[in-house]
Amino acid sequence: MTAIDDSPVRDPDALRADMVRALRDQDAITSEPVAAAFTAVPRHRFAPEAPLSLVYDLHRTVPVKKDEHGLDISVMSAAHLQAVMLEQADVKPGMNVLEIGSGGYNAALIQELVGGEGAVTTVDIDRDIVDRARRCLDDAGYDQVKTVLADGETGVPDGAPYDRIIVTAAAWDIPPSWIKGLDEKGRLVVPLTVRGTTRSIAFDRDGEGLASHSYRLARFVPMQGEGTAKERKAMLRDGVAVQTDDERVPFNTKALNHALDTPRREFWSGAAYDLPDELELYLTLRLSSPARLHASMDIVDSGLVEASALLGVPALVSEDSIAYRTRRENEDTGGFESGVVAHGPQAEALADEYLKLLRLWAQDHRRRGAAVIRFLPGPAPSALPETSVLKRHGVVAVSWH
Ligand SMILES: C[S@@+](CC[C@H](N)C(=O)[O-])C[C@H]1O[C@@H](n2cnc3c(N)ncnc32)[C@H](O)[C@@H]1O
Repeated sequence: MTAIDDSPVRDPDALRADMVRALRDQDAITSEPVAAAFTAVPRHRFAPEAPLSLVYDLHRTVPVKKDEHGLDISVMSAAHLQAVMLEQADVKPGMNVLEIGSGGYNAALIQELVGGEGAVTTVDIDRDIVDRARRCLDDAGYDQVKTVLADGETGVPDGAPYDRIIVTAAAWDIPPSWIKGLDEKGRLVVPLTVRGTTRSIAFDRDGEGLASHSYRLARFVPMQGEGTAKERKAMLRDGVAVQTDDERVPFNTKALNHALDTPRREFWSGAAYDLPDELELYLTLRLSSPARLHASMDIVDSGLVEASALLGVPALVSEDSIAYRTRRENEDTGGFESGVVAHGPQAEALADEYLKLLRLWAQDHRRRGAAVIRFLPGPAPSALPETSVLKRHGVVAVSWH
């Protein structure tokens, strides 16, 4: 990673130049217009209260507002993620763009990309955030950006159709207004949560629905309002939790917690482990009863759960047993080999199903961008495609080629 020199003598312009260089080095910025936008917009003017070292850090968010539990509900997104999403969006001069989730900075970047002939509207559900974004935009000279207070679930029909809609909060679903508000040739870039993992997906129109052009892992504050995520979450014990958005999954918290106290069994696939984001997409769509297992550092240090669960790992769950992915170094598979840890009376059967998928993925789909993610709006068909997830407003269907 390129280090950014943040000694007191550095001024914001120098820090910004370093940031742009580092974003290019890390392939987050891959085009000249996006580089020029990041160079032009004074990022620190959109977070005047934050230290420059934080504002110009590539990977850290800048806190703006927290809820009553101290959890972030609004942040200035990390520069790296903003660059990746703007590259995915491929915004051109003269375009009409809607941003859902405001802060000011990203809207200013988009204004730079669309230029004087283009238009940018940014909408937020929170009055404090809209007011703050307005102040920062005016202060930095981006008074042409339009700010709107509303639940982004309904879009901003007044300004439609949009050439681009860029969502900057984690969405669990794609409401009809986003597709309706998009131009025929438009693109929607949205951090969509599927089976507990959020990916920034660039969707182009595909008939009545959408098909992915690209996807990248992303982390975002959750969408509030009508579009709030529909997931079940359960604490098994302090530091161990499971979550799922699949209604088929039994959630017998007591029995699953008990399973963790039964002996741990390890099974190895003999297949290579890498590209975890690609592998996870495959696993969570193919496992017959998928959930996400999370464990705290204390639990991992105690040896009860593997480190793979620190950021959440796909798990296969039955009434009384649980299996999840792990890895070990193995030169024969080239770096790492994937494996499964399982607990409970059905440990072996769950591990069997899991191992088959680990092997199939390594054999047939182990490359970046191998999946196409589609969104099929409207009522669910009577027979869902095999690798699909039912949402409120449609179906997310994933295929591998
Ligand atoms: C990560 S922040 C946005 C960052 C911003 N785009 C920037 O320039 O860095 C996410 C924002 O989404 C907003 N938000 C959450 N749910 C929303 C909804 N349903 N409609 C509109 N905004 C929403 C939050 O209030 C929060 O300000």
